[in-house]
Amino acid sequence: MKFIKAKDYQEMSRKAANILGAQIVLKPDCVLGLATGSTPIGTYECLVEGYKKGDLDFSKVTSVNLDEYRGLQHDNDQSYYYFMNYHLFSKVNIDLANTYVPDGSIEDAQEACSKYDEIVRATGGVDIQLLGLGHNGHIGFNEPADAFAKGTHCVDLSESTIEANARFFASKEDVPTQAYTMGIQTIMSAKKILLVVNGASKAEAVEKSFFGEIRPEVPASILQLHPDVTIVGDEEAFARIADRI
Ligand code: F6R
Repeated sequence: MKFIKAKDYQEMSRKAANILGAQIVLKPDCVLGLATGSTPIGTYECLVEGYKKGDLDFSKVTSVNLDEYRGLQHDNDQSYYYFMNYHLFSKVNIDLANTYVPDGSIEDAQEACSKYDEIVRATGGVDIQLLGLGHNGHIGFNEPADAFAKGTHCVDLSESTIEANARFFASKEDVPTQAYTMGIQTIMSAKKILLVVNGASKAEAVEKSFFGEIRPEVPASILQLHPDVTIVGDEEAFARIADRI
């Protein structure tokens, strides 16, 4: 695992965007695995800047997102589809037909999940997967569990995740309680993983995930077994591991 230290959120975002940008330059028709949440917003802003400067061309890029709330239509402004469109897709020259987010409007969970697994398979594989980190060590919406889930599946969001995400909704009661998420096996099959993390509130999750025991109760701990993981974090997020990296 490679740890890249950044002094603050801006620097973390720039460094992460440079890594994703290099992937696009080296392989213009690459498959990007993308994440939502507040952590990668700055990274997307830097990618948009790179596009505006003429340094990055997204025209041949395909993207697959990690997750989506179950029950939200694409045009719902709280959906992850809407988020991706707002923060990245509408601001660069990516072909929308090559952007994929699990379809939260499909009620039948099995149908929604197997359809998404097929989509990911058909891309030929993710070249680089961007991840954020949940306070409880979740990646995608793979919450702490008794076993590592494989493919795309429907999850009940944990109380701590609902609370953390309530800031994006009018009230906690409005946060959907379920989501469709890529599974751990799908995430682990990406050729490269890039995880971004910032803030003191994530310091414990960082330590448990990357220096603790590998176990499904801390889903991100499985990343210790991936051959090509880069973690870009700010000083606060790395506070508990600073002397070990
Ligand atoms: C979002 C996702 C989640 C977030 C995590 C951290 O697509 O997969 O795992 O990355 O909940 O969220 P933030 O960045 O809002 O702290």
